[in-house]
Amino acid sequence: MRIVLGVGGGIAAYKAASLLRLFTEAGHDVSVVPTESSKQFVGVATWEALSGNPVSSSVFDEVEKVNHVRLGHEADLIVVAPATADLLARAATGQANDLLTNTLLMARGPVVFAPAMHTEMWAHPATAANVATLRSRGAVVLEPGIGRLTGKDTGPGRLPEPDEIFTAALAAVDTADPAADSPAAAPGALAGTTVTITAGGTREPLDPVRFLGNRSSGKQGTALAEAAMAAGARVRLIAAHMDVPAPSGVELVRVETALELRAAAHAASGDSDVVIMAAAVADFRPSQVVETKIKKRDDEADPVITLVRNPDILQELVRARDAAGTGTPKLIVGFAAETGDATSDVLEYGRKKLARKGCDLLVLNRVGKSLVFGQDDTEVRILSPADSAEDAGESAAGTKAEVSARIISRISAELATRSA
Ligand code: CTP
Repeated sequence: MRIVLGVGGGIAAYKAASLLRLFTEAGHDVSVVPTESSKQFVGVATWEALSGNPVSSSVFDEVEKVNHVRLGHEADLIVVAPATADLLARAATGQANDLLTNTLLMARGPVVFAPAMHTEMWAHPATAANVATLRSRGAVVLEPGIGRLTGKDTGPGRLPEPDEIFTAALAAVDTADPAADSPAAAPGALAGTTVTITAGGTREPLDPVRFLGNRSSGKQGTALAEAAMAAGARVRLIAAHMDVPAPSGVELVRVETALELRAAAHAASGDSDVVIMAAAVADFRPSQVVETKIKKRDDEADPVITLVRNPDILQELVRARDAAGTGTPKLIVGFAAETGDATSDVLEYGRKKLARKGCDLLVLNRVGKSLVFGQDDTEVRILSPADSAEDAGESAAGTKAEVSARIISRISAELATRSA
């Protein structure tokens, strides 16, 4: 895919080099368009070397190629990182005073802005109005991260991490309406919806220092959250233990145990259009949590852990919806991690699980020690109760970001058929 990477004049410009690497390593052809002031932070030589393409900021370079028209027209995606307050203002008011703003005016595909600025600038009503204008035209403006800024200040305004921008940008391409000629005609497919996603692995305490856990990294759940945000949804992330940070811009609910996750999921489902159960929920918990650390003693037998079953939260959510008769959430999506065994293969277990849980879609993963958990690549099948017996479901393979974008676009298609 052809990508234009616009770079604004902020200290975070150096992080755009990592983003550029992510795009080129994924096989995309990237043209970098830095603003004049961004060259104070990262020079043209860096962009040319990393992208392998010529770099210019001015409409008066290589005039014969009519770059101010060509770049925007040919781009499948434009990503602006960092998007400074000034750049957002110029984009929102349709100015065309350098190559990047010309390119933005000529855009035909999705446009993603990754803001970075001081908290006061981000919170200023002028910036908020510019962001609202850009979003109303279908552009994706990511929420900045929260943390240490250039000076001694901390707060919202940090450039989102390069891998977050990468995931959101790919998801924006996947959810953009291919028939639309401009981003204005392609508002996010999930705009106006609330999507609750559970992620990570629960931890079931044995005593104050020990727990039973699992290998879930939270990467799949966070990638889904990114993809849903890029499609315009309000995203609530119910996060059990994760090895990765929660993406900026989600409403974060932290939980530890299956029972805490259950309470949070039931509370959230009342106002959710979609619930996605991507968390690895422990099926069992120790029957007793000892209040003080379990000690080893020579004069006593070694302890035996007795387990009790945790509730099946996914099944409960489906039953609660049926009992309430409200039709909310409209879509409940489960995940299934299967290894297959001597009696049944992965697909057979997946179909049985879909029937048992009663959910509207089931994303089936094959797992093993080095498969799926903690890995960046994955391969899934999306099973639906509407599939015929021979149907193996829609399959999607690639990075967790790519697969998440497919899952989110399937979810938006299912929502559209339900409200049609
Ligand atoms: N799940 C849940 N509550 C549980 C266990 C799992 O809501 N107590 C959800 C998971 O979030 C996932 C789906 O159910 O969306 C399937 O999880 P999985 O671990 O594959 O299935 P199990 O119900 O544990 O079935 P099995 O024992 O056959 O693996």
